[in-house]
Amino acid sequence: MIRSLRGMNDILPPDNARFEYFLDTAASVAKRYGFTYIETPLLEETALFKRSVGESSDIVGKEMYQFTDKGDNDVCLRPEGTAGVVRAFVQNKLDRAGGIHRYFYHGPMFRYERPQKGRLREFHQFGCESFGVQSVYEDVTIIMMIADILGALGIGYRLKLNSLGDHNCMPQYREKLVGFLDAHEAHLCEDCLRRKATNPIRVLDCKNERCQIIYKKAPKLINNLCESCNSDFDTLKHLLEENGIVYEIDTHLVRGLDYYSKTAFEFVSDDIGAQSAIAGGGRYDRLVEFLDGRATPAVGFAIGIERLLELIAMPEASREGYYMGAMDTESLPQIMQLAKQKRMTQNVIVEYSPKSLKAHLKGADRIHARYCVVIGENERTEGKVWVKDLEAKTEAVIEAEAL
Ligand code: HAM
Repeated sequence: MIRSLRGMNDILPPDNARFEYFLDTAASVAKRYGFTYIETPLLEETALFKRSVGESSDIVGKEMYQFTDKGDNDVCLRPEGTAGVVRAFVQNKLDRAGGIHRYFYHGPMFRYERPQKGRLREFHQFGCESFGVQSVYEDVTIIMMIADILGALGIGYRLKLNSLGDHNCMPQYREKLVGFLDAHEAHLCEDCLRRKATNPIRVLDCKNERCQIIYKKAPKLINNLCESCNSDFDTLKHLLEENGIVYEIDTHLVRGLDYYSKTAFEFVSDDIGAQSAIAGGGRYDRLVEFLDGRATPAVGFAIGIERLLELIAMPEASREGYYMGAMDTESLPQIMQLAKQKRMTQNVIVEYSPKSLKAHLKGADRIHARYCVVIGENERTEGKVWVKDLEAKTEAVIEAEAL
């Protein structure tokens, strides 16, 4: 038997209903905030992710599904959605159009990670990207939007917040941090020694306990922000408080992708095990430029759909649609006709085998239909149908036309 690849799952009942419910909810909230749907390819040039997510990141360094295609192009399956959206934004000259552009997307992402609960090799994200707003009010709005989505789904969360500074304050902080790391070099793990040379702030994210004890005393970026980053971070915190959104400052939150500046955040759940991040995002004011576009401020996020599924409180399923069946073979064509008309506005499932009324009622109940419509010999000859409302528990024989 051929099986799906490790870390790549089918989404079948009952998860499919949760998945669809999530997408409907998230998309309708995003639309209320002025975001419109965008679709970008699953396969992109590898260089796109090297230049955006960053060569020193684990995602690009270790986890890409990368190969040479038949035309000798170095390509890879997208490990995340932001880079492709920015590429599309620049390629279609939207950076030159000016104004504000807000997009949402959803679809599969691919990372060759070690699979475990909540960590897949093919997983799905719902993401939003906003271009053209420099104001930190947009960051607040985006965080409120995620809170709205999670709230609508009945999902509790903790919000972790940090500022990653900008090109004014980050380089100075990086130097300070490297100085600190030099002083503790003898006690750092191998990964951190490597990170010190490639992307020092990543050390703060190290899972090694000994390193973490050392980093408790490391200089903190939020104490080294320039005036503009500091004031934006203060405004962000203040506005979140005013809007009743509780947050924690996590000075070690650096995100696994290189394109962020200023605001960085993660929503985590304490109810899903070790892979607790359910959404992540932040500001990336330099990325459009890095991908050859005109400098455009931007901010966005992505939610990991699989991690949410078990947390979603589904609305109580109400009886819906029509079940139709015949009691004899001769009545079946009439049932097909009725179904055709009714399907213009309603869901209709037709049972093709003639059965007794009792058997049909059982079938209607099994698919949770609201109405059970049956035609037997009497109804057929009189142009009528027998119909039962399974919710109101009322039944009647009515003109077929009246259905
Ligand atoms: P990210 O934090 O790498 O950010 O991913 C966002 C979310 O995707 C995570 O919080 C998690 O829920 C889910 N996720 C990531 N990896 C896996 C995996 N292997 N298995 C299951 N779920 C996973 C980004 O991807 C950025 N593009 C977000 C963003 C958009 N920033 C700005 N705009």
